[in-house]
Amino acid sequence: MKIAVIPGDGIGSEITKQGKKVLRTVAHKYKFDLEYEDVLLGGSALDEKGTPLPEETIRICQNSEAVLLGAVGGPKWDHFPGNLRPEAGLLGIRKALGVFANLRPAILFPELKSASNLKDEVLGKGLDIMIVRELLGGAYFGEKNTVNIKGGQKAWDTISYSSFEIDRITRKSFEIARKRNKKLTLVDKSNVLESSKLWRKIVGKISREYSDVEVSCMYVDNAAMQLIRDPAQFDVILTENMFGDILSDEASMLTGSLGMLPSASVRGDSFGLYEPVHGSAPDIAGCNKANPIGTIMSAAMMLKYSFNRADIAENIKNAVSEVLSGGYRTPDIAVKNSKIVGTEEMGDLICKKI
Ligand code: IPM
Ligand code: MN
Repeated sequence: MKIAVIPGDGIGSEITKQGKKVLRTVAHKYKFDLEYEDVLLGGSALDEKGTPLPEETIRICQNSEAVLLGAVGGPKWDHFPGNLRPEAGLLGIRKALGVFANLRPAILFPELKSASNLKDEVLGKGLDIMIVRELLGGAYFGEKNTVNIKGGQKAWDTISYSSFEIDRITRKSFEIARKRNKKLTLVDKSNVLESSKLWRKIVGKISREYSDVEVSCMYVDNAAMQLIRDPAQFDVILTENMFGDILSDEASMLTGSLGMLPSASVRGDSFGLYEPVHGSAPDIAGCNKANPIGTIMSAAMMLKYSFNRADIAENIKNAVSEVLSGGYRTPDIAVKNSKIVGTEEMGDLICKKI
């Protein structure tokens, strides 16, 4: 396995350290070679190289089989103009690597039921949702600007999607749904937005090729509500970039903590960029308090999607489950009587179970 590691900013280096530890542990157990290189992105790259996305970072990532990323951003760089902000580095690397499909699974470890904000009755049926977020289009990459006008300023961002962009992620989502419970919900705002109307049209057309998958459409405001009311109704949620960003944060709270959620950004071959859904949490950076499970589960997704080793991914997931069963918790998922551990200890416990 030849991978690039992007620690990034804030808690990024602490959590990717645990991710690497887990990868080393499985490499040893399953006897394969693991080679990795740390590269700069975001605020740390800005500090050292004067740009949030150094050329070298792109090159090393492109020459790897997969990338593990921590998180970027922090108040230290908030005053920089948009194109120099750490977030621009993150969007830039996603774009440069062409990873258009962001898979964000929301699963509930039964051990964490009490950390979820939902009542037992609602969670009764468990939770296993796959949010497929389009990652390279929409308002994030559309035309945008701020201009001066008489008496003030005017700013805009454009949500634009081509049929090509919608087509490729729709097919990907149907393939994913086929391997799961064969239910796909397109989340959009087609009662208002032109771009959403195009999504509906294309998804409707492609759905005829996947008649074994049950398709429905839902407005995003309703979907936000339904996720809390009855999350078990969802299997695969397909949605555009910004709706996916928002809904995946919402879904994370159903699973107990944003710190638990992994993601995989893929493009159709075996390459992938793997990162937790959460941010860089500058308030707890360097405190050994961050939950490394989102990153560790992202490493598990890497093994499944980039290295075709679902068996090892399962091994990692079971190890996480067992550690949680033992009552060990980072502060974000702690409940009464939990054995509170730090980032490092959580990583060690998981490795031991593997
Ligand atoms: C995420 C993050 C990023 C996004 C930010 C940091 C640019 O919130 O990965 O969900 O909006 O995509
Ligand atoms: Mn987000």
